[in-house]
Amino acid sequence: MSKKLLVILLMMAVMLPLSAFAEGMKKADTIDELVKMFDDRKCMECHPQIAKEWKESFHAKSVTSSLNGMRNFFAIGVPTEWERELTKAEALKCLDCHVPEINYASEKLAVEIANMIIKAIDSKSKSEVKKITKELSKLRVGCISCHNIKATSIAKGLMGKPVKDAVYGVNGKESPAHLTIQTNALRTSLFCAQCHGKYVAADGEIIMCNTLSGSYYNGYVANGGGETCQDCHMKKGKRGHFFPGGHDLEIVKEGIGFNANILGVKHTVGKWIPTAIVDIAIDNKSGHRVPDG
Ligand code: HEC
Ligand code: HEC
Ligand code: HEC
Ligand code: HEC
Ligand code: HEC
Repeated sequence: MSKKLLVILLMMAVMLPLSAFAEGMKKADTIDELVKMFDDRKCMECHPQIAKEWKESFHAKSVTSSLNGMRNFFAIGVPTEWERELTKAEALKCLDCHVPEINYASEKLAVEIANMIIKAIDSKSKSEVKKITKELSKLRVGCISCHNIKATSIAKGLMGKPVKDAVYGVNGKESPAHLTIQTNALRTSLFCAQCHGKYVAADGEIIMCNTLSGSYYNGYVANGGGETCQDCHMKKGKRGHFFPGGHDLEIVKEGIGFNANILGVKHTVGKWIPTAIVDIAIDNKSGHRVPDG
């Protein structure tokens, strides 16, 4: 038997139905139900190198590494600052980008997750904190978040909702394990900017988290910069799914040249500061955004 055939057969063997993700699904009532709907463990078994890289990225801990800021928004911002009730719509204002799967959570679950985030910071019991944080670590920007849920939303009108169970990719390589849909959307900076940019909530509120797509477009592209987010963050130096950023010395060093391109350009950076969302205009010498702290 040829090696290739064997590989295919092996793949068929593990080709148990992938979880049924995307449109038309019943909303999840528990975290485990939600995770099961978007289970990407199967993806990781077949794409182990990418999984390894992803696991080290901030996308893999996109809720647990931001607990403090979210706790402040849910515990103080929503009830005190704006005197609003903590609803799914409020939870989405943070979680739509930090865990896009939240869109498929029931109203009750979304609120419960927001309350868990509060408890993860406020609880006096160490064991409770540990337990909740472990539960919350199941929520993150995973394979399906990017390769399905957010794959068509840069042009919803044109591309419609994501096709259930399909995997969107830039090369259109077919796989016996999944329907692959070729899309150039994942090649564009706009794809990343959906999350690394501003969020317009249903009630019109605009949330800008520590993001930098504003500076990318206004500072870099407007001044002739031609590379996409993917060029610098995935393709260069075979960074792939590691998505190095401000926490990675190698890419930060590279930033010196990059920053020189856009030095002195004025633009607005949105920054989340404990209980208020403010836009601050600054002379951003870093090009991307002002680092925290
Ligand atoms: C438009 C998508 C989006 C929304 C909405 C959003 N975030 Fe974020 N958030 C991001 C991205 C992307 C990053 C990583 C940015 C970076 O490292 O430059 C991030 C990072 C963070 C961090 C980590 C900051 C750091 O420097 O490590 C915190 C805390 C945070 N967000 C809190 C919140 C809170 C609270 C809300 C709701 C008020 C919120 N986010 C809403 C996309 C979003
Ligand atoms: C933050 C978004 C994001 C996440 C999370 C993500 N990917 Fe990707 N992935 C991309 C983008 C964007 C590309 C296309 C990059 C390019 O070539 O322009 C890609 C490319 C790929 C490719 C094609 C690689 C190639 O060289 O042909 C595979 C396979 C893949 N991803 C699998 C996965 C798996 C498995 C996971 C989960 C472990 C995952 N991705 C998580 C955004 C993501
Ligand atoms: C049984 C194995 C298997 C599973 C499970 C699997 N894949 Fe794949 N995937 C493949 C194979 C094989 C290819 C084609 C690779 C090639 O031709 O180089 C592929 C291709 C891809 C591509 C590239 C598409 C392109 O544009 O070329 C992406 C992205 C991808 N898979 C993501 C995923 C995601 C996300 C999941 C989980 C929902 C997943 N895969 C589950 C085997 C698998
Ligand atoms: C579904 C929303 C989403 C999409 C799409 C997305 N990201 Fe992210 N990304 C995040 C969030 C949320 C974080 C921050 C997690 C944290 O720090 O809590 C993050 C973190 C990062 C970081 C690490 C930042 C640091 O401080 O080290 C880099 C780099 C990054 N993303 C690049 C990209 C690129 C490039 C793309 C497009 C290919 C992309 N992201 C697409 C949500 C997203
Ligand atoms: C020309 C190359 C280049 C392009 C294009 C680019 N980046 Fe970066 N990015 C870098 C470098 C270099 C760094 C590290 C130095 C720094 O922070 O300025 C970085 C840092 C980051 C960080 C971490 C910032 C922090 O301080 O935590 C995030 C997140 C990020 N980029 C996302 C993006 C997104 C999203 C896009 C597209 C909208 C993008 N980048 C476009 C080169 C690039």
